[in-house]
Amino acid sequence: MRLAGKSAIITGAGRGIGRATALMFAREGADVLAPDLDLASSEAVAKEILALGRKAVAMQMDVTRMADIQRMVQTAVREFGKIDILVNNAGITQVRFPLELTEADWDRTLNLNLKAVFFCSQAVAREMVARKSGVILNAASISGRTGKPMLVDYCASKFGVIGITQSLAMALAKHGVRVNAVAPGIVDTDMWVSIDREWSALEGKPTGAVKQARVANIPLGRIETPEDVAKLYTFLASDDASYITGQTYNVCGGLQLN
Ligand SMILES: NC(=O)c1ccc[n+]([C@@H]2O[C@H](COP(=O)([O-])OP(=O)(O)OC[C@H]3O[C@@H](n4cnc5c(N)ncnc54)[C@H](O)[C@@H]3O)[C@@H](O)[C@H]2O)c1
Repeated sequence: MRLAGKSAIITGAGRGIGRATALMFAREGADVLAPDLDLASSEAVAKEILALGRKAVAMQMDVTRMADIQRMVQTAVREFGKIDILVNNAGITQVRFPLELTEADWDRTLNLNLKAVFFCSQAVAREMVARKSGVILNAASISGRTGKPMLVDYCASKFGVIGITQSLAMALAKHGVRVNAVAPGIVDTDMWVSIDREWSALEGKPTGAVKQARVANIPLGRIETPEDVAKLYTFLASDDASYITGQTYNVCGGLQLN
């Protein structure tokens, strides 16, 4: 029970890595606010958490809306009395040849993957700083380490997440708040279903071809599971990581090529 007595917000908790992290946090003793753009999936996860014996709150929200961010923080404080952990997990990808990327495409990715990470962190950090305690964890990616030809906006957002992580960690350390990020590789979620569909189509290959080729490059020999990422989030959220801040850790099966 590494998170006993803690309360957490996990954005985009309805499916994929967010859902796996919400359930693992609950199994480790945390109460969880599970906001998602999709209310039905948020409610489904909250139900699973309640069945594990923890408090859980579902809510529909869009992390790119400032009013929703305020509502998220108010809900967590009202329901749990405090926020110990924030996981900025919600994110999207879209596969585009750079010369075809539109301003709307750019804004969609950067608003969600980068701007919302900062403003969710800022809103929650105000609570954490007042209590002189807290952990903020961000979803970076191996695409925040090296560029990729068809993911220029996504790579820019994830490089940016690493910058936010380092900057906030330095600003908030003296206030008792740690900030770290995780950089997953190729995780078996709906996100890679759509990356594969779009990328394979752009390359004139059958659906599944791009994903299969990339998974074949993973040294540990299998695709990453959402739980592989959740385990790292759980460690970083726990007091076992009390001397770690400002860091981004790869969890990618040893993947070097993108
Ligand atoms: N899947 C991968 O291979 C992979 C690799 C590296 C990093 N990541 C990162 O991990 C995070 C989670 O990825 P995933 O694969 O679980 O994605 P996913 O697409 O399976 O799930 C994303 C969740 O976020 C929610 N969401 C989307 N927009 C939202 C918004 N505006 N407000 C609130 N919720 C919103 C969705 O409804 C969904 O439940 C993302 O930030 C992603 O970039 C994923």
